[in-house]
Amino acid sequence: MDTTALPGAVRRTLPLLTGARAAASLRDGYLDLLDTEEPQPSGPVQSLWESRAGTAVYEPVQAFARKVVARLRPPAERLHLPDGGTVLDVGCGPGTVTAELGRDVGPRGLAIGVDLSRSMLRRAADAHAAANVGFLRADVTNLPLRDASVDAVTCLMVLQLVHDQETALAECARVVAPGGRIAVLQPGYAGPGAGVVAAVAGVAGLRMPGHRAIAATLRAHGLTVVESETTAPVARVLAEKPAERS
Ligand SMILES: C[S@@+](CC[C@H](N)C(=O)[O-])C[C@H]1O[C@@H](n2cnc3c(N)ncnc32)[C@H](O)[C@@H]1O
Repeated sequence: MDTTALPGAVRRTLPLLTGARAAASLRDGYLDLLDTEEPQPSGPVQSLWESRAGTAVYEPVQAFARKVVARLRPPAERLHLPDGGTVLDVGCGPGTVTAELGRDVGPRGLAIGVDLSRSMLRRAADAHAAANVGFLRADVTNLPLRDASVDAVTCLMVLQLVHDQETALAECARVVAPGGRIAVLQPGYAGPGAGVVAAVAGVAGLRMPGHRAIAATLRAHGLTVVESETTAPVARVLAEKPAERS
């Protein structure tokens, strides 16, 4: 691969990648690390997010949801993002949050958005690629990043679309550096009739792990849970990888 042709932020991502990059190609402003694979969508909602129409619809829906639901992304200070740090936004969709994270880490930092959907990534790269914001096509259950290579991970409204949620969370835990934080946000409801809501979501191919299950998985991977709660319509978990002792 001719790395000189890569956008600046993608080039800065290369040292963080595992060997997977040999099969990578640059497409529409993002690095496609799944170019030779075609993962099957996990269900009808994921098929929608992989289509042009779904991508076009998603952004205004997301903007509206962010107006009416407080904290659809964790505040920067809760992520403990260092100025000049590196943050990974898995399931970045149209890249709106990735771009905000780029502003949080500043020009010396790096915000990397990862998604499966070509259509979302095309839009993300088009609208938000910058010297410190880059996008990769990869699967959260098999992240192409080295162990402990990023300072924080956000996984916002993604897990419900992933079949192997344990592996996805294990991957987030693997790539975050000691002292770094992982924020997971999910559609969530824990009130009366929660079982019915989960069953209806299941018909649409959505799996809604509760905050307790997410927290338990992150704990099992050595993280300390800082926050874990459901306030409909979202479940949120914030966890920290213990710093290494010197
Ligand atoms: C509902 S959107 C959330 C976008 C963004 N995080 C936000 O908060 O607005 C979910 C995104 O997760 C992506 N996604 C689903 N499964 C994925 C996987 N296994 N690996 C990476 N991205 C995935 C979808 O393509 C979609 O863009």
